[in-house]
Amino acid sequence: MSQPRIGLLSGSTRKASMNRKLVAATAHIFTDAGAKIDIIDLSDYDMPLYNGDYEDENGVPDAAHHLIKTLIACDGVFIATPEYNGCMPPLLKNTIDWMSRVGLEQFSRPIYAIGAASPGPLSGIMALRQLHFILARLGAHTVPTQLGVGSYGKAFDDEGRFADERTAARATKLATQMLNAISRS
Ligand SMILES: Cc1cc2nc3c(=O)[nH]c(=O)nc-3n(C[C@H](O)[C@H](O)[C@H](O)COP(=O)(O)O)c2cc1C
Repeated sequence: MSQPRIGLLSGSTRKASMNRKLVAATAHIFTDAGAKIDIIDLSDYDMPLYNGDYEDENGVPDAAHHLIKTLIACDGVFIATPEYNGCMPPLLKNTIDWMSRVGLEQFSRPIYAIGAASPGPLSGIMALRQLHFILARLGAHTVPTQLGVGSYGKAFDDEGRFADERTAARATKLATQMLNAISRS
């Protein structure tokens, strides 16, 4: 099989985002496992807040079409989500909602994996649950291992890798599940 292509995206575009750091650390794991990685920055796919009147007048934003193309070109996609008030953030939900207006191949074709970074000890588990639900509803296969990184001040080392062996081992398990699912599909 040719080298699998893995897209990784953060549901926060904040400069110092910990979910961006989670994406970067997970990207190291996939690179070490032999995958080709593509960091997908949602700042490059700016979309207005979904509104049906806007859609009737203007159609689906070009950015949604571009992101769909990018995701369909990936064999696997890892999404790192922040948690806002127990939910996934509006940026991620809005992006998913706009893309769903076009079709669902971007969800059903790649294999998905999810993670979350949050400052608290619970590591965004409520946002993970929501993200898992919406991906399943849209036809995505999501690998069983999820990557929750809590108390994130200590999560990453100076090179942007996971500082803690247990988290690195969990990320490796997630990557292995995804790469195995890709090779079976
Ligand atoms: C509106 C808002 C609500 C938040 N609610 C939660 C929450 O429910 N659980 C949690 O663990 N962190 C919560 N946080 C803290 C975020 O986890 C924290 O700001 C985190 O750094 C955001 O992710 P980022 O660093 O990738 O931008 C909230 C932050 C904001 C701005």
